[in-house]
This record gives sequence, structure tokens and C-alpha cells, in this order.
Amino acid sequence: MANEVVDPGRRRFLTATTSVVGAVGVVCAAVPFIKSWEPSARAKAAGAPVMADIGKIEPGQKVSFGWRGMPVFVVNRTPQQLATLPEVDARLKDPRSDNADQQPAYAKNENRSIKPEWLVVIGICTHLGCSPEYYGVVKPEPFDPDWKGGFFCPCHKSRYDIAGRVYDGVPAPANLQVPPYHFVSDTLIQIGVGPQGAA
Ligand code: FES
Repeated sequence: MANEVVDPGRRRFLTATTSVVGAVGVVCAAVPFIKSWEPSARAKAAGAPVMADIGKIEPGQKVSFGWRGMPVFVVNRTPQQLATLPEVDARLKDPRSDNADQQPAYAKNENRSIKPEWLVVIGICTHLGCSPEYYGVVKPEPFDPDWKGGFFCPCHKSRYDIAGRVYDGVPAPANLQVPPYHFVSDTLIQIGVGPQGAA
């Protein structure tokens, strides 16, 4: 306005006040942002990726990790266990993992995995959701005299091989699901995100 009287002192005061408010605002905005780098327990349950240290899993051993409130089985498969895979193909419902809902494209291979020795599957039976038990040793079992190693669901006797592929003649309709995951290093995997962000 033409008649406006500019008070230089007041302008300096307003400028300084605005700067302080701006700085406080930046600090306040930064705190939740930094915290978001580490997913909270609630975020993990809702689906945030989780890191799984696999460095201490012995050959032949299975360890379970939690992701989205579900168990994820990680098995360090031995060469002997891997050798059983082609032997059981003829006894399976979906030996070639053709059901694309049950694994990401990068796990559609004979081992159903990124690295042959490391199996990563969601430990929930595809029948009615019980958690299958790990029977990794090749030996006769009460539920299968010609058992080649894998998983047995005690609820209704579904059987899966050591790649989580379901046997014929059991109630479970599909192979155990492979979640998205990738290797961060040789001893660390991240569950929930595929290689280079693939689903
Ligand atoms: S829930 Fe596993 S066989 Fe029924």
C-alpha cells in the first residue's frame, strides 16, 4: 500500500520468528522419519520386511522366523537332501511349481529357491492352515515308509517334500508358499522384498 509505514525493527523480528518456527518444524518432521527406518513391532506384523540371520543354521537344520505374523521356515539343505528332489517328482501334485501363486518367478525352479541349499517357505499348510513339522531325514516314517525328507502336517496328514512341494493323495491342494525374499549377504536374508525390489 502507498501509505504503509515500514517498521524495519518489526520486520527483522518477524523474519527471525519465522526462521525459528521453520527450524523447529524441520526437527519435528525429522524425528518420525528417522524412527521409520526401523520398523516397529506393529509395522512388522502388518507386513514390513524382516531381516533373518541364517549364518548359524547348520546343514540339514530348519529355523523359523516371523513375518506378517506367520512362520517362515528356512532350511539349510544338504546335497543329500537336494538329491532327493528329482526322485519324488512322480509322487507330487505340482512338481514343476506351475501354480504361480505359490512362489515368485525367481523361485520357480527345481529347488524352489534363489540359492539351491537355502529353502525359504511360509510354514503354513495349504490345506487348513496348520503348521507342518519338519522331518528332514531320509528314513521310513509311520506316515510314509519311503520318506525322502520334508514336512508333515499333523492335522490331516499332508506331506511336502524338502522343497515344500505337496504330495499327491493328501488334502493340501498346493505347494507351500515361497515368500518374497533376497540375500543381503551370504548370511543374511530379507524376507518380504524380492531381489532388486521384485515382488
Ligand atoms: S491343515 Fe495341514 S493337512 Fe489339513
